[in-house]
Amino acid sequence: MNSRFDLKGTKALITGATKGIGLAIAEDLADFGAEITIVARNQEEVKKTVDRLAARQYKVHGIAADVSKAEGRKSVTAFAAEKMSGIDILINNVGTNVRKKTTEYTDDEYNMLMDTNLTSTFDMCRQAYPHLRASKHGAIVNLGSVAGARALPTGAPYAMAKAAMAQLTRSLAVEWAADGIRVNCVAPWFIKTPLTEPILSKEVFMQNVLARTPLSRLGEPPDVSGLVAFLCMPAAAYITGQTVSVDGGFLALGL
Ligand SMILES: NC(=O)c1ccc[n+]([C@@H]2O[C@H](COP(=O)([O-])OP(=O)(O)OC[C@H]3O[C@@H](n4cnc5c(N)ncnc54)[C@H](OP(=O)(O)O)[C@@H]3O)[C@@H](O)[C@H]2O)c1
Repeated sequence: MNSRFDLKGTKALITGATKGIGLAIAEDLADFGAEITIVARNQEEVKKTVDRLAARQYKVHGIAADVSKAEGRKSVTAFAAEKMSGIDILINNVGTNVRKKTTEYTDDEYNMLMDTNLTSTFDMCRQAYPHLRASKHGAIVNLGSVAGARALPTGAPYAMAKAAMAQLTRSLAVEWAADGIRVNCVAPWFIKTPLTEPILSKEVFMQNVLARTPLSRLGEPPDVSGLVAFLCMPAAAYITGQTVSVDGGFLALGL
C-alpha cells in the first residue's frame, strides 16, 4: 500500500468507540495499521469490543471511563500513553444530546451537555498534548456536527457546543502547528447510530431529513470514519484547522 495512505506504526486514542461512529473510526484506524485504545463508560461493552477487534488481529486496548469528568479524562490519557508507549492520534468522538426547547433545560442538563460535548474535547486535547508533541506528527480529529453551522431542532446547547468545536479546532491548529500537531474537525449530518435512532424512528421527521439531503439517504458510520482516517494520514499532512462536513449535500442545498 502507498505509505501516504497508511497508519502503520501510529498509536491512536478514540473516545466513545463501542458503537456508532466511534466504533467505525476504531475499525478504520486499526485496518490502516494503527494500534488503538478505545474508551466508553460501559465496562462490559468495552471488553466485548476489545475482544471482537483483537480477534481480527488488531492491536487494541480498552478502558472504561467517563470523559465528561476530569478524573476520567486523566485516567484515559495515562492508560493510553502507557499501553501504547505514546499517542500520535486523538479522536474526540464522544458526544450526546437532549433535545428540548431552551427554556425547558435544567441547569444539570445544560452542564452535562457542555461537559460531555465540549469540555471533554478541550481537556482531552490538553491532556494528550505532551504525547502528541513528542510524536512530531500528531493529529487530532474532533467530531463536530452540521448543527454547529445551521439552526436545527437539536436544542441550543448541543449546537453551541458543536459550533465551539469548530473554533477550538481553528485555535489549536494554529497554536500547535509549530509542535507538528494538526487539528481538524469532521461535521456529520444524520448518521444511523444508537444516538439518532429515537428521533429517526419518527416517520415525519425522517421524511423531512431525507427531503433536505440531496443524496437522498441517511449517512452510515463508515461514511464518516473514512474521512477521519484520511485526516490522520501522511497524505493529509498539509490540512489543518478545517471543519469538513459529511452531510450528503445538506449544507450545499438552497431551494
Ligand atoms: N449520529 C449522528 O447523526 C451524528 C451527527 C452529527 C454529529 N454526531 C457526533 O458524532 C459523535 C458520535 O456520535 P454517535 O451517533 O456515534 O453516538 P452514539 O451512537 O451515542 O455512541 C456514543 C459512544 O460514546 C460512548 N460515550 C458516550 N458518552 C460517553 C462519556 N461521557 N464518556 C465515555 N464514553 C462515552 C458510548 O458508550 P457508553 O454509553 O458505554 O459510554 C458510545 O460508545 C458525537 O460527538 C455526535 O455528537 C453524530
